[in-house]
Amino acid sequence: MGATVLLGITGGIAAYKAPLLVRLMVKSGLNVHVIVSRSATEFVTPLTLATLSGNPVCQDMWKNRDKPSVEHISLADAADMAVVAPATANFIGKLANGVADDMLTTILMAFNKTVLICPSMNVNMYRNRILQSNLERLRTFGYHVMAPGSGELACGWVGEGRMPEPAKIFGEVELYLGPKDLNGLKVLVTAGPTEEPLDPVRFLTNRSSGRMGVAIAKRASTRGASVTLVSGPIKVAPPSGVKHVQVRTAMEMMEKVLESFHDFDLVIKAAAVADFRPETFQKEKIKKDKFGTTIKLVRNPDILATLGSRKSHDQIIVGFAAETEDAIQNARIKLKNKNVDMLVLNDVGKPGAGFDGDTNIVRLMFRSGEEEQLPLMSKEDVADQILTRSLGLRGKPNG
Ligand code: PMT
Repeated sequence: MGATVLLGITGGIAAYKAPLLVRLMVKSGLNVHVIVSRSATEFVTPLTLATLSGNPVCQDMWKNRDKPSVEHISLADAADMAVVAPATANFIGKLANGVADDMLTTILMAFNKTVLICPSMNVNMYRNRILQSNLERLRTFGYHVMAPGSGELACGWVGEGRMPEPAKIFGEVELYLGPKDLNGLKVLVTAGPTEEPLDPVRFLTNRSSGRMGVAIAKRASTRGASVTLVSGPIKVAPPSGVKHVQVRTAMEMMEKVLESFHDFDLVIKAAAVADFRPETFQKEKIKKDKFGTTIKLVRNPDILATLGSRKSHDQIIVGFAAETEDAIQNARIKLKNKNVDMLVLNDVGKPGAGFDGDTNIVRLMFRSGEEEQLPLMSKEDVADQILTRSLGLRGKPNG
């Protein structure tokens, strides 16, 4: 790859895995500069890191005072991205609040490119609301935060807080340094379920977690697109660097999507929108002895079909179909009736496909009649396939 990466290591037990990450990055051709906090050196030696990276390890702000360049600025300028793994609660707190009191925090203050933070700590520290609020603050400033793994922790507790394995972090670094082939494109993605309230405490919804749509938004953004994500209540954090618009009902989603639809080059509708809503909303909680057993429903508008009927010739629209029977036949009908350029069919009855999990099995179906069945893959890989195929459709009159 040949890019330059800054690897910040802070003082947690997971620092023992950092040399493996350095090794993976160097082996792939990356130029790695390691910056350690003082407490990181209690867990891993600068000598090991310097030997593996082939570069001097930075720690002391005041060591190279006689050099003409300002080290923290020249390192920040030279690098293409930065990773901090492991990132302790203390470091995250400092970064989120603008404290720059050592080499790593000072370099990051001067760094205006992609930064990936890999939190690693005890489960109770990770769940602490101060830490969570600091992570949220970093996300809103455009920092990318990798979710920690869950399991047995070095402190003896079980839960989330493990630093992701070096190979997983490396995979993420590769994504951020990958091609920016969607540069200049405006992409609108919808994700998650909608909720259709019946009374203040009850609503109709479905099992969508938002993972598929969030994966699409994330990959579109890392590939250079300007992305807006309109979602119902999702179970996963929206990606950093993406404009997130939160809605609840199908009607609200319709309003937000139509508001700016013509600004977008590509629209991908991964949301599982409720087809029906209760005809009336009861302001007070319904009492079982006064209500009976029937809920009258009315149809929600079909957002995708509305977009299909209003799209301009240079917009690409991608819909999803979640089917459990006669999947291919039903999806072909949706492709045609909703006037979309591509339909992504997930046969949600298959293990590993559809709702909630991290994987999907999809069939890409095009206006031209072409169809491509993809094997089981991660939702991020599915997202990449959808984006690559959508890009290929631009400029083709008949998809
Ligand atoms: O969120 P995850 O847990 O990761 O799960 C992913 C997913 C299964 C939700 C996703 O991959 C998916 O299939 N989304 C579409 C689900 C769905 O609503 O399918 P459908 O066949 O009912 O609708 C077809 C298309 O019309 C969809 O693009 C949907 O967004 C759209 N639609 C449907 C109804 C409606 N009133 N308005 C719409 O725009």
